[in-house]
Amino acid sequence: MVTGFPLVAIRSFIQATRDSGYKSTSAAVSELVDNAFEAEATCVRVEVNEDPRGEKRLSVSDNGHGMAPTIMQLALQFGGSTRFNFRQGAGRYGMGLPNGSLSQARRVDLYSWSNPHKIWSTYLDVDEIASGVLDGVPRPVRFKPGSAKDYPETPSGTVIALSKCDKLDYRTVKAQAKRLNLDLGRIFRQRLYQDKQILVNGDAVAPLDPIFLHPSGSLCAAEPYGPPLEYQVRTPVPVAGHPVSKIQVRFVLLPVEKWHSLSNEQKNQAGISSGAGVSIVRAGREIDYGWYFMGNKRRENYDDWWRCEVSFEPVLDELFGVTHTKQKINPTVELNEILVPDLERVARELNGIVRKRYTEVRTAEFSGRAIAAAEQRDVRMEPLPLRRSAHASHAQGRALWRKVEYAIDHKPLDEVSFYVPALRRDKLLLTLNQEHSFFTKIYEPLFADNQGIPNSLLGYLQLLLLSVARAECNIRSRQDRDAVKRLREEWSNALTAFLD
Ligand SMILES: Nc1ncnc2c1ncn2[C@@H]1O[C@H](COP(=O)(O)OP(=O)(O)OP(=O)(O)O)[C@@H](O)[C@H]1O
Ligand SMILES: [Mg+2]
Repeated sequence: MVTGFPLVAIRSFIQATRDSGYKSTSAAVSELVDNAFEAEATCVRVEVNEDPRGEKRLSVSDNGHGMAPTIMQLALQFGGSTRFNFRQGAGRYGMGLPNGSLSQARRVDLYSWSNPHKIWSTYLDVDEIASGVLDGVPRPVRFKPGSAKDYPETPSGTVIALSKCDKLDYRTVKAQAKRLNLDLGRIFRQRLYQDKQILVNGDAVAPLDPIFLHPSGSLCAAEPYGPPLEYQVRTPVPVAGHPVSKIQVRFVLLPVEKWHSLSNEQKNQAGISSGAGVSIVRAGREIDYGWYFMGNKRRENYDDWWRCEVSFEPVLDELFGVTHTKQKINPTVELNEILVPDLERVARELNGIVRKRYTEVRTAEFSGRAIAAAEQRDVRMEPLPLRRSAHASHAQGRALWRKVEYAIDHKPLDEVSFYVPALRRDKLLLTLNQEHSFFTKIYEPLFADNQGIPNSLLGYLQLLLLSVARAECNIRSRQDRDAVKRLREEWSNALTAFLD
């Protein structure tokens, strides 16, 4: 039916669509980088700068195959695409270029060429559209650079130039460029590993692998946790030739022993701290990063030390709930039913492994200091009733005889006590019962990372335990020892009752 009433109120639409919800400038710019790589570009240059009046500009230039003038008009049209609903690459909605651009700027100029001496240009300008001066995408016109040296160096290519940028994330050019460099390195890591290049203000973007697995990464010490999980899933909408498609899930463990002693600044910079989550990779580029498919498992600090990557192809977009801004997923119930049982289980396993490794590393580190203090000061007290060590010779005399070694260990004990002291020749061994709530609720959490507890207090706690162990070891009569053991067991039981 022809109503004569336009479907879109263009003047208000253009203003409203600017708020279509890109979560960051990097997410919007990623649309333009996607387009460049789809046009077979090998190098994408992103420039952010400020003109003398303080107005921000951002441009994305590529050496891809460029566009014919008719395609350029289509390219700036909302919904205009040469690959609508195509499921083999990143683009399929016909929205990325106009929508991504105008979410950051009030004007976008498009330049494209397949002959560097024949450049075409067209544009969209929010103010001209809002005031009624412009009611569509202008027919491309020939663009002549100011001087011969300004002609493009590449045989073909495209420039998307955003001006009147009023919605960039950062106020300074430097901060914005830095953020883009970091984000694009992660989002496009797989392309960068395949020899594609992105430059931000002239600086090469380095690939950043959030799962620390790629061999060329500066930090690539993660170990894969089992082989990748693969799920063959029926495609939700019939796409010719694709009845099923694969979802691949990789888990890795970060090297706790190697990296735990990095400073907080180093951990932040490398993306270790607060990095718990799942990287969602669609058609080889990251579209989201978050706490997905984890069922009832809550995110904890320990979860920074393992990572997960879920990769899928665009034929599964409906299942993952990908929207046209390609920056977030909204998994369907069906997808959660497929992935959550395994992913939640593996996440809990990994959390347990990290927790154990971490406790081992941290307690060993602190025990070293507490033990040294105890060994040094032991001589100030009445000597413990040590038995002569097998190898201690008479010639070594009394000094060696009285030297006591201290050790702290933890393991599951078939005991009600939360600690058990023992004198073994010239060694005092304190064993903490890993099964007791004291260990799981107090000792272990205190030694976990990022607790904000001063290191000195952790050392004092160990000295407190060593001193009580020493006191018990110094009880001489059997009767007294039995009474002290009973006290320790009563204390441990009461502690269990209070803590559980
Ligand atoms: N840098 C580029 N080089 C060559 N062609 C391009 C470039 N950028 C955009 N195009 C053309 O413009 C069209 C529109 O781009 P746009 O990003 O708006 O939509 P799309 O990529 O088709 O889909 P999506 O909205 O999912 O990104 C593309 O289909 C492509 O033909
Ligand atoms: Mg696109």
